[in-house]
Amino acid sequence: MENYRLDFPIFTHTHYINSCSYGALSHQVEAAYGEYLNCRKTRGADWMNWCERHEIVRDRLAQLVGAKGDEMAVTTSASAALSSLISSLDFKGKRNRVVTTDQAFPTEAQNWHAQATRGAEIVHVREQDGQLDIEHLRELVDERTLLVAVPLVCYRHGALNDIATICKIAHEAGALMLVDGYQGLGAVPFDVRELDVDFAVGGTLKYLLGSAGIGFLYVRETLIENLYPLQTGWFAQADIHAMKIHGNEPAPNARRFEQGTPSVPSLYAAQAGLDYVLNVGVKNIRKHVQDLNRVLKTGVTRLGGNLTSQLKDNAQGPMVAIRSTDDHALVAALEADNIVTSCRDGNLRVSAHFYNTMEDIAAVLAALEKNRGLLV
Ligand SMILES: Cc1ncc(COP(=O)(O)O)c(C=O)c1O
Repeated sequence: MENYRLDFPIFTHTHYINSCSYGALSHQVEAAYGEYLNCRKTRGADWMNWCERHEIVRDRLAQLVGAKGDEMAVTTSASAALSSLISSLDFKGKRNRVVTTDQAFPTEAQNWHAQATRGAEIVHVREQDGQLDIEHLRELVDERTLLVAVPLVCYRHGALNDIATICKIAHEAGALMLVDGYQGLGAVPFDVRELDVDFAVGGTLKYLLGSAGIGFLYVRETLIENLYPLQTGWFAQADIHAMKIHGNEPAPNARRFEQGTPSVPSLYAAQAGLDYVLNVGVKNIRKHVQDLNRVLKTGVTRLGGNLTSQLKDNAQGPMVAIRSTDDHALVAALEADNIVTSCRDGNLRVSAHFYNTMEDIAAVLAALEKNRGLLV
């Protein structure tokens, strides 16, 4: 993993350990942006090439989650993916309940609550000791449940959910299952067929090393034809080039969940980032990050600090959260020592990726020791 680090110039001067917020920029992604600008300079408009790139990104995303290209929509954010999907759901029937969780990223929960005006009943699974309370989830999922929505990894403290078990509970009650994969994809193996999920959303700017401007949606192939998105546009049509204005004919595949012109510069970055991650291999990334996190967690405990939740290795995503009396002050103190992290909800978030090393962990632990007063 050491050699990969040479491709990320930030490591020449900084311990960047903040991929839960934004992945580090590689030479390859920088070059991809350059390629886009060069194309603009030399050709001006190159729509054929850009549309092909859109398809390449779709295929790479499909490879990442074990799906078919036809099951993937490439959108401009995870929020856009989610709202397009939600616009195709019907909350008027007997199944009008959405079971979300207290671990939901705001955009997910807000999108569900917006559906109350369309007849949806929204309930939240609570947390217990930083993990979803599965017994509570079982109580909430029944014959009234349309869909269960769960994050793969919680953005506040890094808990990794047992998606296969939750999926089974949802399906046994006849409900659909959606996973918000954003905080895990690229660092945690995730296969839609193995896990049996119906929908998944994510984006490319974190562990996938790409850029803002690209989100995505996976939809199980057999569900697509009965979902009619109300939030739509010309890139969602069966024939993008038909330019028909007297009807709406959604694409037969998951492209029907797209809308307008894709974020073209971001497609270049996304492809380069995805290629990098797929080449390193998500299983290898997972093992490396778990090795780093084990040392980090032991070190924090030795310093007398507290992890936000005591998670076993296999219930922890790539991010480790550490409790603080003033999380913003702690991020600033670490930054003064050239260590970039982030915070949420009173926690310092340390989020390693394959390009991080034991040296980064040692630097974080040394800075935490210096700032012990900010640990709880
Ligand atoms: C778990 C999770 N879901 C959704 C989002 C929002 O993604 P977007 O801004 O692409 O809509 C984020 C962003 O940090 C996230 O961490």
